[in-house]
Amino acid sequence: MKKFILIFLSIFFIFIISSCNDNQKDNNEENSNGNNNNQEEIITTNKTLVAYFSQTNNTKKIADYIIEIEDADELRILPKIEYTAEDLVYYDETSRSWLEQNDENARPEIKNSKIDLTNYDVIYLGYPIWYGYAPKIIYSFLDDYKDSLAGKKIVPFCTSGSTNIKNSVDELMKLNNEVMWFKGMRFADSSSKEDVESWINNMIGLREEKTIYDIKMRISGIDINFDIENNESTLDLLEKLKKKDITISANRYGGFEQVGPLGLTLKSNDVQMTTSPGDIVLYSSNQICIFFGSNSWRYTLLGHINLSATELTNLLNKELVSIQFYLA
Ligand SMILES: Cc1cc2nc3c(=O)[nH]c(=O)nc-3n(C[C@H](O)[C@H](O)[C@H](O)COP(=O)(O)O)c2cc1C
Repeated sequence: MKKFILIFLSIFFIFIISSCNDNQKDNNEENSNGNNNNQEEIITTNKTLVAYFSQTNNTKKIADYIIEIEDADELRILPKIEYTAEDLVYYDETSRSWLEQNDENARPEIKNSKIDLTNYDVIYLGYPIWYGYAPKIIYSFLDDYKDSLAGKKIVPFCTSGSTNIKNSVDELMKLNNEVMWFKGMRFADSSSKEDVESWINNMIGLREEKTIYDIKMRISGIDINFDIENNESTLDLLEKLKKKDITISANRYGGFEQVGPLGLTLKSNDVQMTTSPGDIVLYSSNQICIFFGSNSWRYTLLGHINLSATELTNLLNKELVSIQFYLA
């Protein structure tokens, strides 16, 4: 019986390693084409980051699904010294992976330069299971970013032949008790985008509930109080803001308004109206107008700034202003 189990395990791992080698080739090819390596220029405009290590692209597949679903930024964690096929021979007790995983102080160096995590609320952290746990490069990531991770939500996910994620997360949690750890999820090779989506949608506590009343506005760097309409357009704006802040470069137009592109389309319900000073409207589904004077046109009303005509003129009667919408 023992013999049978040993043979079965050997076949299982040979299968895994051979598929790793195939994928490794893909991975190396990808790297030599310059893809995935060039992440120093990461633009931190979204609120969610997917940081992951993937040697043979199984974890990358899941990471890509999360990036699509969450409209998240990507950080592929790359080892300074790449792993070769020999490094990953699991049964060789002299292989690099074996030695690293059995050395509690091992922290393989990360190749990508440090990025600014300030803007992220949620960080998905992905890795393959190696000998039951997360690869030590994930420990390096947690050490390198220890201070900037405080207060953030970390959602671990992994891929593996069969091992579940629990033990690996228990160990990672010991490295930083100032982050909000989620219990995480293990995915198989065969996991689909729908599996990933259903996991995300059912994760308790991932998203705080926000309402349209949490929508805030800044004009040229000044926080501006405004009353918001409760309609389909402002609800749509709320949904868009859950993913990222919106900054509009507006221009004075017609001596009565500031107008600028949202960079996206919102649901609209235009009606003919004559605007008053302080009105904030959606124009043509994709532009915002804020009035310091008045105009008659077809707009969707989004809100109103309760400032005097003089205050509005001082604020808005300029060639250019920057308007920012964000969630409190
Ligand atoms: C060195 C090494 C050790 C592994 N140890 C385990 C293990 O303990 N349990 C398991 O289920 N799978 C194990 N695997 C299989 C990987 O977790 C699995 O193939 C994973 O999906 C690879 O992800 P990646 O393609 O993102 O690198 C191991 C693979 C390697 C290379």
